[in-house]
Amino acid sequence: MGRKDASVSNPGDSDDTEDTEDPVHPVPSRPGGVGVGVDIGGTGMKAAPVDLGTGELVGPRVRFDTPKPATPETMAGMFARLVASFDFDGPIGTTLPAVVRHGVVGSAANIDRSWLGVDADALFSTAIGREVTVVNDADAAGIAEMRFGAGRGRDGVVLVLTFGTGIGSGLFVDGHLVPNTELGHLEIDGADAEWNAAASARERHRLTWPQWAPRAQRYLEEIVKLFSPDLIIVGGGASKRSSKWLDLIEIDAEIAVAAMTNNAGIVGAAILRSDLNAAASP
Ligand code: BGC
Repeated sequence: MGRKDASVSNPGDSDDTEDTEDPVHPVPSRPGGVGVGVDIGGTGMKAAPVDLGTGELVGPRVRFDTPKPATPETMAGMFARLVASFDFDGPIGTTLPAVVRHGVVGSAANIDRSWLGVDADALFSTAIGREVTVVNDADAAGIAEMRFGAGRGRDGVVLVLTFGTGIGSGLFVDGHLVPNTELGHLEIDGADAEWNAAASARERHRLTWPQWAPRAQRYLEEIVKLFSPDLIIVGGGASKRSSKWLDLIEIDAEIAVAAMTNNAGIVGAAILRSDLNAAASP
């Protein structure tokens, strides 16, 4: 929604000397409350303050490159730096591109394998000295789409599929999330589906969007065969170019383009964290 990255500053990018500090952005208050969400991907780590009542960003979106190697230690350091970019001391919600069961990382398709088994809730909470809740990135994006975007008010079976570096999936049944579905890793035609059909596969094979579309078609056909969804919401990087390929897709399910595009993970992480707080208070 709306805002461009205000600061795209990576370590080493600037001409300034090493003791230059990152700017700290003010976080305004809003009637519905404000939270800060962090969205961690294989290539970028982004954060912004979110109006919890409307899903809108109420401050700049700050992005740093995901450090390489993307280990728990390097990413926790970068996470702390991201969070320190905002004048905000409330609890933080964050995503990871991995299975996250009660805070513990259970897969590592696009992050360093040393993440496996790490208690990410504890790691990030220690890094910033306050409570952090970690969820799968597509689950967070799905939560944002269901609350404020293309899935708003929709019941039945809704699948949010993000086509980016990998394929993420958020499955909702009558508005309730079934977490960690990992449908990007369905085996289709003998291969891991995201290897062929993620947006990154298009870049890897230097395909145009129309040339890539049959791969998305094949993937979506299989999804429809297995889940008979009432609605599929297409998100991730490929959704920004949906006009170039979505008309070529023919499946027996309604398809909508994600409304929150790049910010869905940030918004979903922030609202999920605030929902947890609300559930915990008497
Ligand atoms: C990961 C998922 C993630 C998806 C999108 C997949 O490779 O296994 O956990 O949601 O990529 O980032």
